[in-house]
Amino acid sequence: MAVRGRPTPQAESLEGDRPRFKDRAIDEFRDAGLNPYLVEHSTYGRPLLTADQAWRLRGRWHEEFGREAPLHVEIGSGNGFFLAEVARRNPDANVLGLEIRYKRTVMCAKKLDLAGVTNGRIARYHAAYLDDLFEPGTLSALYVNHPDPWPKERHEKNRLISRWFLEDVARLLRPGAPFRLKSDFEDNVRRVPKLLEADGDGVPAPPLPFRITGIADDIVTGPAPWPDDIETNYQKKFRLKGEPVYAIELVRTDGPFPA
Ligand SMILES: C[S@@+](CC[C@H](N)C(=O)[O-])C[C@H]1O[C@@H](n2cnc3c(N)ncnc32)[C@H](O)[C@@H]1O
Repeated sequence: MAVRGRPTPQAESLEGDRPRFKDRAIDEFRDAGLNPYLVEHSTYGRPLLTADQAWRLRGRWHEEFGREAPLHVEIGSGNGFFLAEVARRNPDANVLGLEIRYKRTVMCAKKLDLAGVTNGRIARYHAAYLDDLFEPGTLSALYVNHPDPWPKERHEKNRLISRWFLEDVARLLRPGAPFRLKSDFEDNVRRVPKLLEADGDGVPAPPLPFRITGIADDIVTGPAPWPDDIETNYQKKFRLKGEPVYAIELVRTDGPFPA
């Protein structure tokens, strides 16, 4: 994922400009036998959706969940603990996790099953192509917890927290909906207020329609900028190491999306 420019799409366009990410066939992997999760990912079924199943649900997520309900999305669900807990605590919401790694999609599906929730799904998809999955103004909450930090300068282009990503978030959230970010990498949180008004090079850009409702320097020793924080797997690792976790909450304002 690129901090200044969006990464190159992986898939050829099938419908208009979508999808830009796709499942790879098992026989495309030379070492497929070494990763049992490749097969398990494709055969698991609900609550796990493959990339090809997921992008077809754009504008129709209510059909997948069997009801109209606010849609909450988590990016990079990891082992699925946070995802399952969001689903458990929000029975009136449809909750979808996005995860790029095969093994982790399976782990998330098992966590959702274990939690006994019916309002949670995990889909394998790339966070750089959220437009493939969602129509503008349709998300009621978006969570990103400990995105891969890519701390080295030369890897900065891989960071998710970027101007194009915040533009995506502004386009997809409903007015009044929150975007909550937690990170062990301080710059991921510190750069957000700047990116609301400038591009990744610091060149002024049209203001994005967000209000910063809270920012915290360390939610290990102090409160998160929202009530009832759910500790993620990575967050726990940093707490146990005695290292800080930074957090910020933005709320989508009514303002129109900048031209
Ligand atoms: C550092 S881990 C954090 C996991 C979890 N959120 C937590 O806090 O415990 C980052 C997660 O993001 C996933 N990830 C990385 N790049 C991604 C992308 N482009 N799209 C979706 N998920 C991605 C990784 O596979 C990994 O599970």
